[in-house]
Amino acid sequence: MVVPPTPENLERAAQIIRQGGLVAFPTETVYGLGANALDASAVAKIFEAKQRPSFDPLIVHVSDRAMLAEVAREVPAMAEKLMERFWPGPLTLVLPRSERVPGLVTSGLPTVAVRMPAHPVALELIRRAGVPVAAPSANPFGYLSPTRAEHVERMLGERVDLILDGGRTALGVESTIVLIAERPVLLRYGAVTVEELESILGSVELQVRSLDKPLVPGQLPQHYAPHTPICIAPPETIPLEVRKKAGYLAFQHVPKGFKVVKVLSPTGSLVEAAAHLFEALHQLDRLGLEAIYAEPVPEEGLGRAIMDRLRRASSTAAPS
Ligand code: TXA
Ligand code: MG
Repeated sequence: MVVPPTPENLERAAQIIRQGGLVAFPTETVYGLGANALDASAVAKIFEAKQRPSFDPLIVHVSDRAMLAEVAREVPAMAEKLMERFWPGPLTLVLPRSERVPGLVTSGLPTVAVRMPAHPVALELIRRAGVPVAAPSANPFGYLSPTRAEHVERMLGERVDLILDGGRTALGVESTIVLIAERPVLLRYGAVTVEELESILGSVELQVRSLDKPLVPGQLPQHYAPHTPICIAPPETIPLEVRKKAGYLAFQHVPKGFKVVKVLSPTGSLVEAAAHLFEALHQLDRLGLEAIYAEPVPEEGLGRAIMDRLRRASSTAAPS
């Protein structure tokens, strides 16, 4: 059931989490599918609902530092620096995990991924639940992430106890994931840009391109994919015959001849484009088109996360 985030509904949602149920909730990036991170059987329901392979560890969401201390054994100085700058916000840190976190959350890894979301509904839900909340994006495994409550309802409606509707998410791409090791390692491009990270860290090692041997499913070559075949191509390379039956996901300008066109940002803003990316793909994917073509965007700032998601959406390699 989709409900507005009134105080009563937040209380109800928090109670569902405490009792081991599933609540979908908005964050500033995408909607999450949440369960009590300290309750292994509650967390198992997430995997079941998403049909997600259990090798895939989850992000634990916290509302304050005390909760962080419950799930992370240690917070190195580098993590402190990043949290000071980017929390609450779209940065996930991979830290040494505490014994209290069930192995199912971390897939048996010695680390745990944690973030403090910046969305007031997410923070209030976690605060009221009083427990850290494990939440992957609220979509079936491998499919497009949800940026609206309707997306969650359409994809997982039956499988979730409650969906809190916070409208469209502001950022539209998932959090950036950084592994805190001797040298920080970027595991997933996301809403915090490489440029922003480097302004704090000096440099980050990139591991996001190791697609053959993914460390995390967000690194699988095919992920975040619509059902309609999608291909990245500038409009001028697509023959007019093909355009008639295809949809186009344009960055800034409307090209001619396509059956339908969605423009990510008329002003050419990468921030706006990221915010509209998954929503536009959800819309195009529901039209029964023969193919979707997507215009490449500049690979700087949020453009890197956008191109990363488009490449995975368009990859024909089967997830391993
Ligand atoms: O913006 C976001 O991060 C959203 C919202 C709901 O917070 N969540 C999200 O979660 O995108 P999910 O589960 O779709 O992606 C989490 C990624 C996965 O690829 C997972 O494998 C990785 O984080 N991850 C989790 N724990 C990890 C760990 N200990 N080491 C490395 N990667 C980890
Ligand atoms: Mg996901």
